[in-house]
Amino acid sequence: MEFVSSKWVLPFLFTLWLLFSVALSVEGLKGNSKVRGVNLGGWLVIEGWIKPSLFDGISNGDMLDGTEVQFKSVTLQKYVSAENGGGSDVSVSRDIPSTWETFRLWRVSETEFQLRSTEGQFWTCDGQGSSVSATTDAPASSGSTFFIEKLNNSSRVHIKLQSGIYLQALTESQLTADYQGIPGWDDNAATFVMTIVSNNLHGDFQLANGYGHAKAKEVLEEHRNSFITISDFYFLSTHGINTVRIPVGWWIAFDPDPPAPFIGGSLAALDNAFSWAQTYNIKCIVDLHAAPGSQNGMEHSSSRDGSVDWPTSQDNIDKTLDVIDFLASRYAKHPALLGIELLNEPSAAGVSLDILVSYYQKGYQTVRKYSPTAYVIVCQRIGNADPLELYQANIGFTNVVVDLHYYNLFDTFFVNMSSAQNVDYVYKSREAQLQQLNNASGPLLFIGEWVNEWNVTRGSEQDYQSFGKVQLDVYNAASFGWAYWTLKNDRKHWDFEWNIRNKYLEFSSFSPRLQVSGVILFLVFTCSYLFLHHIL
Ligand SMILES: *[C@@H]1O[C@H](CO)[C@@H](O)[C@H](O)[C@H]1NC(C)=O
Ligand SMILES: *[C@@H]1O[C@H](CO)[C@@H](O)[C@H](O)[C@H]1NC(C)=O
Ligand SMILES: *[C@@H]1O[C@H](CO)[C@@H](O)[C@H](O)[C@H]1NC(C)=O
Ligand SMILES: *[C@@H]1O[C@H](CO)[C@@H](O)[C@H](O)[C@H]1NC(C)=O
Ligand SMILES: *[C@@H]1O[C@H](CO)[C@@H](O)[C@H](O)[C@H]1NC(C)=O
Repeated sequence: MEFVSSKWVLPFLFTLWLLFSVALSVEGLKGNSKVRGVNLGGWLVIEGWIKPSLFDGISNGDMLDGTEVQFKSVTLQKYVSAENGGGSDVSVSRDIPSTWETFRLWRVSETEFQLRSTEGQFWTCDGQGSSVSATTDAPASSGSTFFIEKLNNSSRVHIKLQSGIYLQALTESQLTADYQGIPGWDDNAATFVMTIVSNNLHGDFQLANGYGHAKAKEVLEEHRNSFITISDFYFLSTHGINTVRIPVGWWIAFDPDPPAPFIGGSLAALDNAFSWAQTYNIKCIVDLHAAPGSQNGMEHSSSRDGSVDWPTSQDNIDKTLDVIDFLASRYAKHPALLGIELLNEPSAAGVSLDILVSYYQKGYQTVRKYSPTAYVIVCQRIGNADPLELYQANIGFTNVVVDLHYYNLFDTFFVNMSSAQNVDYVYKSREAQLQQLNNASGPLLFIGEWVNEWNVTRGSEQDYQSFGKVQLDVYNAASFGWAYWTLKNDRKHWDFEWNIRNKYLEFSSFSPRLQVSGVILFLVFTCSYLFLHHIL
C-alpha cells in the first residue's frame, strides 16, 4: 500500500464518490438524484371532478358550455337532426338519435344558448317564419342565439328566438319559427323533450362563463388562495417530494386581464408557488396544460365544447409560443425553476406529429433564449401514438425530457382486471416500455402523471399498497423521474396527501439516503485509509 503514492488516494476516492452521485442526478436537484414529484392538478387549471363544489353555485349548471343535448318533438315523436351532421337544414325526422341529432351548447347566459352540430356549424334562424339551418361556422351576430326554457323538474323544453317567437315542429322536414303565442307544457308542436347526453366538461371556460365574470372572479380567487398553500409545500418537503409540476392555462400570460371569459390571478398564484417552493427547497416544472383552441378537447385543456382547434390555426400555435416565451422570461432565472413543459397531452387524433414536433422545436428554442439549462419537457401524444416518435424527432440538444403518462384507467383494456393483473401489467409492460425508452438515445424519460388508482372495484388497503409499490419500483427507474397525479382530490385515492397519511402509498424518500450513504461510505474509506496509513 505504501508504494501507491498516498497523496492520490484521497482525491481518487473523492472523485469516485462525485462520479457516483452525479451519474444519478438530474441537474438542479440538490441532494436528490431524480424528480420525485407531485402535480398541483386542479389548482390553476380547473377540473371539476377534482373539486366539484366549485360549480355548485352556477344556476342551470347542467347546461354549461359543451353540454351535449338532443331534442325530441313530443308531437312528431322524432328527433331534431342536423342533416349530414351540419352544413345544411335542420330537420325533425329521426327515430333514433345519434351524432347528427346531438348538439353542443355554447352558453350565452343562464337561459340563452347557441347550438353546434357535430360538424361544427351553428343553428341559425333568420326570424319569424324562417326555418332553422346549421350552416354557419361561427355563431351569427343575430339569429344564432336561442332561449331554451325548461319546465321545472322535467325534461320538457321550449326553444325561442331572441325576438320572442317559439320554434315548432309541424313537419319532419324543418324546424320553423312560427308558433303563434306562448306554448303550454302539454303535447304541442313547440314542446320538445331535451336529453342531456353528456355534460362532462367542467373546466375554466365552463366555470367562468357559467358564473359570469364577477362571481367567477370571487370563486376563483377563493379557490386559488386556499386549495394549495405554503403548508402543502411543507408537507411535500417533509415527505420526500422534491418537485411540483404545476399545470397552467395559456391565459396566465395575459394576467391580470385575460380574454373573456378567463379570470386573472393565476399568475400571482404561480409566483407564490415559486416562492413557497424555494422556501422548502422544492423545484417547479411549469406545465402548459391548456393551449388556445385546446390541444385535446378535454376540460383540462379548457376546451369550450370538446373541439380540438389548437392545431388548425397557426395563430393558436404562435400565441402558444408567446405564452412559453412569457413563462420562460419570467421564471428562467428563478432558483426554483427546474423545467418548462411545452404542452400537456396533445391528442394523437387531433394533433399531427409534424405540427407538434415543429411546435416543440420552436418551444425548445424559445426556452433556450432565456435559459441554457432549464429542462424542456415535451409530452407524449395521448391516444394511439408510440412515444418513440418524440425520441426520433430532434427536438433540441440539451436537457430535453419526454413526459409519458401512465394510468391503468381510461381504456377498456383495464376494465375487469384484477389487482394482481394490474400489478403484473406494471411490472411487465410498463417496465419493458420504460426500459426501452430509458435506453433510447436523446431525451430523458419522465413519468409526469400516474396515480394509485385503477379500475378494481373493491381493492383492499393491501391491494393499494402493492399497486403503489410496484408503480414506485418501476417508475423510480425513469431517467428523469416521476410526478404523482395529484396533490389534492375530492376522490381520495387520487389524493397524494390522503394516500400518504393513510399509508395507501408507502413512499420513502430513498434518494437523499442514497446520497447520505455515499457520504458515509466516503468517510469510512477515508478514515480507514488514514488509520492504515498511520499504522503501517
Ligand atoms: C321553476 O322554478 C323556479 C324556482 O323554483 C321558478 O323561479 C321558475 O319560474 C320555475 N320555472 C318554470 C318554467 O316553472
Ligand atoms: C322540483 O324538485 C325539487 C326536489 O326534487 C323540489 O324541491 C321542488 O319543489 C320541485 N319544483 C317544482 C316546481 O316542482
Ligand atoms: C366486465 O365484466 C362484466 C361483468 O362480467 C361484463 O359484462 C363486461 O362486458 C366486462 N367488460 C369488459 C370490457 O371486459
Ligand atoms: C437497456 O440497456 C441495458 C444495458 O445496456 C440492457 O441490459 C437492456 O436489455 C436494455 N433494455 C432494453 C429494453 O432495450
Ligand atoms: C371501471 O371502468 C368502467 C368502464 O369504463 C367504469 O364504468 C367504472 O366506473 C370503472 N370503475 C372504477 C372503480 O374505476
